[in-house]
Amino acid sequence: MIGDRKILFSGMQATGNLTLGNYLGALKNWVALSEEYECYYAVVDLHSITVRQDPAELRKRARALLTLYIAAGIDPEKSILYYQSHVSGHAELAWILNCFTYMGELNRMTQFKDKAAKHQDNINAGLFTYPVLMAADILLYQADVVPVGVDQMQHLELTRNLAERFNAVYGDVFTVPEAYIGKVGAKIMSLQDPSKKMSKSDENPNASIYLMDDPDTIRRKCKRAVTDSEGEIRYRDEQPGLKNLIDIYSACTGKGPDEVVNAFAGRGYGEFKEAVGDAVVAVLQPLQERFRELEKDKAAIDAVIRNNAERANATAIKTLRKVQKKVGFPERVRG
Ligand code: TRP
Repeated sequence: MIGDRKILFSGMQATGNLTLGNYLGALKNWVALSEEYECYYAVVDLHSITVRQDPAELRKRARALLTLYIAAGIDPEKSILYYQSHVSGHAELAWILNCFTYMGELNRMTQFKDKAAKHQDNINAGLFTYPVLMAADILLYQADVVPVGVDQMQHLELTRNLAERFNAVYGDVFTVPEAYIGKVGAKIMSLQDPSKKMSKSDENPNASIYLMDDPDTIRRKCKRAVTDSEGEIRYRDEQPGLKNLIDIYSACTGKGPDEVVNAFAGRGYGEFKEAVGDAVVAVLQPLQERFRELEKDKAAIDAVIRNNAERANATAIKTLRKVQKKVGFPERVRG
């Protein structure tokens, strides 16, 4: 807690092109949460190198992601937006937590199994201990809440177990974080296969709307979205493609699914898809404009990066010093 505000931590990776799913499912929510909580939003670049990256590309994307946080409406004076790699406490705490984590626990992580299967030529130790670094991210700031998707719940559960395990030995050191379950963001599916999540790593470019797609591309992708042959606009699991389009339209306009169905009752899919395209453009175009505007002022972004890393570091170091003392590292003598 800071005053009467609870602390919230979350992070995103700057790999791949962010999609509409990332925006509607996470980032848009982060903006709303930043009104209510003391928020730390990291660009988790330490996590990114568990998979081989092109250095110049990673640097570029990391900056773009941080800029996008601001463009989306997160105030860098209020919330703390920073690069994980600029606060060395993440790596230092992760090491200590590694020594409190069992191989068996990490072996059970489904994301590790998935990623190991996908990157068989590079199953590195970082990939294995990825969840421990994530625990360090969260515990370093004594976060009360962590908004995460279902795919990260297992990692959050491990984080809670590590905090409790450490506290059981050394006393009340860490806040045990809760998953944020409030009105969660919309889960947006692929436009080409509505049984899959819209993903930044999809090989089919028509499956995802990227945040930086131009209006024509957005409209074209919506028009080509896979639907069904029922021909009637309804919101139900049997029409998953259409359901997804209704979810997208809902999230972009703030109208509930029932309202959308009523508004488009009796009209054709073609007409609805056009409306979806327009609704997405209406959300993404201003976001893109703000992004381009912000990007131009290099000095201002640099200042945000510098100040926010300092603010993050000031908190991180407090937890880290406490933990180092607890485990028996010698104190730093000043003077
Ligand atoms: N692993 C998360 C993801 O891929 C990103 C992440 C890293 C994160 N550290 C975190 C999310 C801490 C929440 C809290 O989505």
